[in-house]
Amino acid sequence: MKVPLLDLQAQYATIRDDVRAAVDRVFETQHFVLSGEVKALEEELARYCQTKYAIGCASGSDALLLALMSCGVAEGDEVITTPFSFFATASAITRLGARPVFVDIEERTYNIDPAQIEKAITEKTKAIMPVHLYGQCADMNPLIELSERRGIPIVEDAAQAIGAEDRRRRAGSLGTIGCFSFYPSKSLGGAGDGGMIVTSDLEHARRLHMLRVHGEETKYHHKVVGLNSRLDSLQAAVLRVKLPHLDEWIAARQRKAQQYELMFLDAGLSEEVQMPFVRPGARHIFHQFVIRVAADQRDALRNHLRENEIGSDVYYPVPLHLQECFAYLGYREGDLPASERAAKETLALPVYPELTDEQQDYVVNKIAEFFSAIRAGETQAQGCAT
Ligand SMILES: Cc1ncc(COP(=O)(O)O)c(C=O)c1O
Repeated sequence: MKVPLLDLQAQYATIRDDVRAAVDRVFETQHFVLSGEVKALEEELARYCQTKYAIGCASGSDALLLALMSCGVAEGDEVITTPFSFFATASAITRLGARPVFVDIEERTYNIDPAQIEKAITEKTKAIMPVHLYGQCADMNPLIELSERRGIPIVEDAAQAIGAEDRRRRAGSLGTIGCFSFYPSKSLGGAGDGGMIVTSDLEHARRLHMLRVHGEETKYHHKVVGLNSRLDSLQAAVLRVKLPHLDEWIAARQRKAQQYELMFLDAGLSEEVQMPFVRPGARHIFHQFVIRVAADQRDALRNHLRENEIGSDVYYPVPLHLQECFAYLGYREGDLPASERAAKETLALPVYPELTDEQQDYVVNKIAEFFSAIRAGETQAQGCAT
């Protein structure tokens, strides 16, 4: 049996006719950039995310960049964020000449630890950027309280968390600005790159509309220097086909996650394999199902899965503060221990709506096989020693 980490063809098979009709519709109009399709998607997405405005852009990476630009982040400023994320989280900050200030994560959720943020704030802090990793929101209440008390905006990196909730409030609506990615592997994925910025703040919405088209306020009149970062109509049309399915897909992902938990329990693996932790009050969309194992077993387990044609991945093996390109920031190994441990111990397993019970069974059986071989080896070694 083969179990890919993600099977986009299985999803496409369920919506093929609608996607093709949507693509045809765009070709008939010959409007390919920032058309009515984009506007309609923006309205639908703002409603879905419980915000007043949504602004389409070229990618999740650009969404972060534009959001920080809208907050006025520039040369010499600081932005507080997590080191346990995709590279774009930090590069959006450094591309503006600002400095990422990394705050360690909570052991169980892998998200930024709110208790450690305040001591990282300086007079240069221009924004706080939590990441809702794997599809679960960071613990936002303390962050919102801090943001209001210290007057520092929050830019949510919600690239992995569309539809996630913290205490019934949707990802993207919790901070000042929320950023999403429509990279094809995302829970709401396009047919190429795409991104969206959401906010309920009119001033930010106005600025963001300008910033994504070279800072243009009216045609050929540029108020600020922005980017060319527009969402294509083809992407918007495809995403509009998928958006109405998103909640049913999230529910299916959640069922798969529960099923994994029961299967791991049945297989007697609770000692060796730690399950994802869902914070009370959270709607975890399980963009990724990430287990945790001992650091010296993780890569061997990955190889074992690969040999058995099971996909898995590590998100992310090198925390951002230890990336070569950020050496100039002066962080050293040991500075952010929870993130460094997570980078060595976590492993993402296949999770998607179309994953079958048989495939899940196979994944768990192969993991059980791996650990029973280790146990047998240990018993044998003990036998030799006595
Ligand atoms: C946490 C996080 N931030 C930012 C991004 C960047 O999004 P994109 O690939 O659309 O530029 C991604 C996804 O790739 C991500 O997972």
